[in-house]
Amino acid sequence: MSTFRTIWTTEDRYVEVIDQRVLPHELINVKLMNYRDADLAIRNMTVRGAPLIGATAAYGIYLAVRELIEEQRDGAFLDEAFDVLRASRPTAINLFWALDRMQNALEDADDFLQTAWEEAGRIVEEDIETCRMIGVHGLPIIEALSNAKKGDTVNILTHCNAGMLGCIQWGTITSPIYQAKEKGIKVHVWVDETRPRNQGSNLTAYELTKHGIDHTLIVDNTGGHLMQHGMVDMVIVGTDRTTRNGDVANKIGTYLKALAAKDNEIPFYVALPSTTLDMSIRDGLTEIPIEERDQNEVKYIQGKRSDGKIDTVLICPETTNAANYGFDVTPARLVTALITERGVCPANEAGIISLFPEYTES
Ligand code: MRU
Repeated sequence: MSTFRTIWTTEDRYVEVIDQRVLPHELINVKLMNYRDADLAIRNMTVRGAPLIGATAAYGIYLAVRELIEEQRDGAFLDEAFDVLRASRPTAINLFWALDRMQNALEDADDFLQTAWEEAGRIVEEDIETCRMIGVHGLPIIEALSNAKKGDTVNILTHCNAGMLGCIQWGTITSPIYQAKEKGIKVHVWVDETRPRNQGSNLTAYELTKHGIDHTLIVDNTGGHLMQHGMVDMVIVGTDRTTRNGDVANKIGTYLKALAAKDNEIPFYVALPSTTLDMSIRDGLTEIPIEERDQNEVKYIQGKRSDGKIDTVLICPETTNAANYGFDVTPARLVTALITERGVCPANEAGIISLFPEYTES
């Protein structure tokens, strides 16, 4: 795995991220100078993907602490930073997990700035190891499918981008794939384009290309057809929030892939860092807040023109209304298993507790 990261710190102790809105056409870094920059980067999807949203928010708090001290802001300033960041995106629980963690660390801190710097750094380093371990535990699943096919290519379908670009390194769904490739296992990935923002075509295809993984881009409605014709061996998706019962929120359209996989008896896996668990809720359908975004993301599509410039074009009558739900919930009954950093478990409370006993209810 390369040392390439999606978020890093600079010599003058600010933070830089990749502007994912212009990938794969341009590779532009954005410097985050204060918590408002971090907040905007999350809201406008310069950064996205549950673990990376959490890491950016954590560094947002570090930047707020820095401003509090250097610019002598008043006592309410830090609370305001927490509130603003908490409201940036509603579905990925990693955001709230990371902010809670920063808050807890700061509560007992003698040196505010150093504590915030170190805690945000730890969140980043831990995510890298978590994703690496998801790969360690997911690899045997791909290996078993490869063995069952006598070494023939394992065809994996994925939706959205739960790769390294949604995390720091490795990615969640891509970690087992990258580790399979390193082991010489033949893999091929069907990449759902993932309208409206096209995280599949813009981001997953980009990083699979960079890592030399054989892949094919498909429109979002193709998966069912491929499954009916034996062209998919497994589905693996990421998650933005997984409940105590094992219900999984992920990018809109994930549920339809799970239904098609069930109907075709194809295993449907969810790569789940424990930072994406929300053990405070059970029923994903009623309890997970689903983000609704600007309708223009549906009405317009972005791409590269023949003169090399990135542009957006309208794809419907200007007056047509569009609905833009960001996520859907796949009920646990459709999930074959969760692949976590501690192992693979059934998508239910007992399964999750078997790996994460610290969440046993007293
Ligand atoms: O709207 P996005 O791009 O932030 O949605 C991302 C996803 O749905 C990912 O699958 C999820 O965050 C997991 S990233 C490891």
